[in-house]
Amino acid sequence: MANDRKNSSIIVFGAGGRAGRAIAQEALRRGHRAVGVVRDPAKYPGLDALDTGMTVVAGDLTDADSVAAVVSGVSGDVAAVVNAVTPFTAPPETFDDFDADYYVGLVENLSRAAGLRRCRVVEIGLFAMLRTGDVRLFQDEVAFPAFLRPFAVARLRGLNAWADHDADVDWLVLTPPPRLAPDAPSTGRYRLGDDVHDPAATASLSYADLAEAVLDQIDEPTVTRCQAAVYGLP
Ligand SMILES: NC(=O)c1ccc[n+]([C@@H]2O[C@H](COP(=O)([O-])OP(=O)(O)OC[C@H]3O[C@@H](n4cnc5c(N)ncnc54)[C@H](OP(=O)(O)O)[C@@H]3O)[C@@H](O)[C@H]2O)c1
Repeated sequence: MANDRKNSSIIVFGAGGRAGRAIAQEALRRGHRAVGVVRDPAKYPGLDALDTGMTVVAGDLTDADSVAAVVSGVSGDVAAVVNAVTPFTAPPETFDDFDADYYVGLVENLSRAAGLRRCRVVEIGLFAMLRTGDVRLFQDEVAFPAFLRPFAVARLRGLNAWADHDADVDWLVLTPPPRLAPDAPSTGRYRLGDDVHDPAATASLSYADLAEAVLDQIDEPTVTRCQAAVYGLP
């Protein structure tokens, strides 16, 4: 069903990052209000200035009370809450101490937010969570770097937490291909897949086109309660 709340808000956690910024910009371009959530607004001068029109608020997606306060504080309709957060932009040296329940916690906080605002949740996934045969890409012991495995396992636990969730939460994980290109331009073209990796899909995807897919799935949802790959087109 098409989202008829063209002027409703889209709340983007991680709006200071590459995906979050692109998603908030695309939301604004389509006439939504964009509420960008960052942990420390002082770190992002200009995020709500320029001519973005974004409303920037402080919030932490790992903190249940913070998430509830942020989503409750948005006036009017909320079309979606978007998770574009990642705990590190560049990988640390080791993930050995990474909290295996980090993503399970995010799912709990996002589910609560969706319940409070009766809206859809769209999360940006990780390519390594796509399936290949009976396993996920990260379970390929030759191709996937061993030191990243604790992080991938935590992400899989998050994905499983979504899958185990009651049917009352309208969640969607949109997963980019391995090559997500920060500076590539918007082409307005992409292809949606399912959660099985398509090895023939070798084109990179721009963040702008990932944002296009996210907004399409908010404005005109076609899939729910699953992981769907988003591929670039050559
Ligand atoms: N090929 C792939 O599969 C691929 C490639 C790249 C990214 N991704 C996925 O895409 C998503 C976004 O990645 P990105 O490249 O946009 O990352 P990014 O540029 O590093 O941005 C991530 C943002 O998350 C924010 N953040 C971290 N922890 C937070 C928290 N607890 N609460 C609120 N904000 C928080 C960070 O802000 P501060 O630290 O400033 O607070 C940062 O601005 C992630 O899920 C990532 O795994 C997938």
